[in-house]
Amino acid sequence: MIGGRTLAILITIGAMVGGAIVWPWTSPPTASDGLAPTPPMGFNSWITTYCDESLDDTMIRGIADAIVDKGLKDAGYQYVNIDDCWALPERNAEGNLVPDPKRFPEGIKALADYVHEKGLKFGIYTSAGIKTCDPNGFPGALNHEVEDANLFASWGVDFLKYDNCNNEGVDARQRYRTMHDALKATGRPIVLSICEWGQNKPWEWAGGIADLWRTGGDIADNWDSVLDNLNSNLPPAQYASPGNWNDPDFLRSGNGGMTDTQYRSQFSLWSVMAAPLLIASDLRNASPETMATITNADVIAVDQDPLGVGGREVQSGDGLHVIVKPLAGDDQAVALFNETDTDATIEANLDKIGFDAGRYVVKDLWSKETHVATGGTLSASVPGYSTVLLRISPVAARPAGRWNLSHVVELSSSNGWGPFETDRSNGDQPIGDGRALTLHGVKFTNGLGAHGPSEIAYYLGGSCSTLTATVGIDDEVQGQGSVVFKIYADDKLVADSGLVFNATPPKSLAANISGAETVKLVVTDGGDNIEFDHGDWADPMIDCA
Ligand code: GLA
Repeated sequence: MIGGRTLAILITIGAMVGGAIVWPWTSPPTASDGLAPTPPMGFNSWITTYCDESLDDTMIRGIADAIVDKGLKDAGYQYVNIDDCWALPERNAEGNLVPDPKRFPEGIKALADYVHEKGLKFGIYTSAGIKTCDPNGFPGALNHEVEDANLFASWGVDFLKYDNCNNEGVDARQRYRTMHDALKATGRPIVLSICEWGQNKPWEWAGGIADLWRTGGDIADNWDSVLDNLNSNLPPAQYASPGNWNDPDFLRSGNGGMTDTQYRSQFSLWSVMAAPLLIASDLRNASPETMATITNADVIAVDQDPLGVGGREVQSGDGLHVIVKPLAGDDQAVALFNETDTDATIEANLDKIGFDAGRYVVKDLWSKETHVATGGTLSASVPGYSTVLLRISPVAARPAGRWNLSHVVELSSSNGWGPFETDRSNGDQPIGDGRALTLHGVKFTNGLGAHGPSEIAYYLGGSCSTLTATVGIDDEVQGQGSVVFKIYADDKLVADSGLVFNATPPKSLAANISGAETVKLVVTDGGDNIEFDHGDWADPMIDCA
């Protein structure tokens, strides 16, 4: 659902032009220190506190706690980064930076240790100038690179955001390289994030100096600003590669100035550009909507894809855009982006974006709807300010042979109690927690542990003829539950178990699935209620020729 509406994705079968998937914008790999093989993910304090007194030890510890407690660490967020205003306005007698004792009474090292104990990484900030950017004027690192880098390393810093203010006109390459060399000389791996707002085209020279570089100005919490930063970040797409990331600045989700639709668009667009995912809102009290946006695992997987290619705009006009990002394993992410306030249809020619003739699974990464399509035209209705983000994966017909579906990757699934399990009973909600599939005391090594209401679909491509399985309610529910097992071939019902209770002996189902593109294994409630409806598909075998 986007903007309160279900997005209908229509796949039109059009003319196909063959052609290998070639990505002319993938530039040769640039030097990388290997510290950020995928775009850094984490939190930055600037927008939450700016320079006010709420930036302190308690606040940063609270953010680290929230990242762990709310599942953001599990989702991939790693860095807890302090921005400007952490230091005293003057260096000490030895010439070192001093953490503001009011904000950080235990110092920065103790805070970094706390963050590390949580399994997270710690970042800090200064400027490649004589003072930082905040008008209060904190000391910058220009001409103090070595002592500041040593101090940061001694504190256990993992990430340095290095700004551009008060740089005295010294050449940017020289300033940033000096800090790079100083960090390297400490022997501690420290990610270097260059923040010179794209002024000196850092994408052309900062590979091998920095791990990420800003491509534009500070992002504000409004739509025009998202568009501005998008437009600065798209052109250098070809310079993104593992360890070298274009940085269009913070994610504004949770800041309140835009709608959830707009924040989901920003998240989709940043991900398809392989941008760093640095959250700028107070994670200690993130709303459910913000959490849903920033933890969408399918979208994060696009951003973090190991191929590390920046998405490129392949089509644009009237505020409607198509951005494509090649992913590992011949998959591609396609963002259909409507920057206008009016609903529109966006069509993308699959041939034009590098697909040759063949079949594809198309997954909408927000609605989770999955379709099988043939080369031709992708067309989606995209509400104003929305982005439909799709993952397209080539699929082939199932090769000849006899296969257990528990070893075939599903096309899509839904399940009544956590995800369905492979070669285990459904168990409880977490994945992988089931037991041996057991029907009336007989254990099965292979099969699917479902819980009604459940639907598990497979793409077969028309090459298979029969599907057989032994079905029943798993012994783990001890006498409870009632379900019906059904098999659909291309949406036609081809087998039905009738009502099955826990006491019902295991039943053999056999279905004719000749020529079916897809098959669907369905478990529905038997009519009482859906509790304890642990339906097992033991040895679901398909024969394909
Ligand atoms: C500059 C940077 C911002 C922030 C502030 C802090 O404006 O671009 O991201 O770090 O400085 O003063």
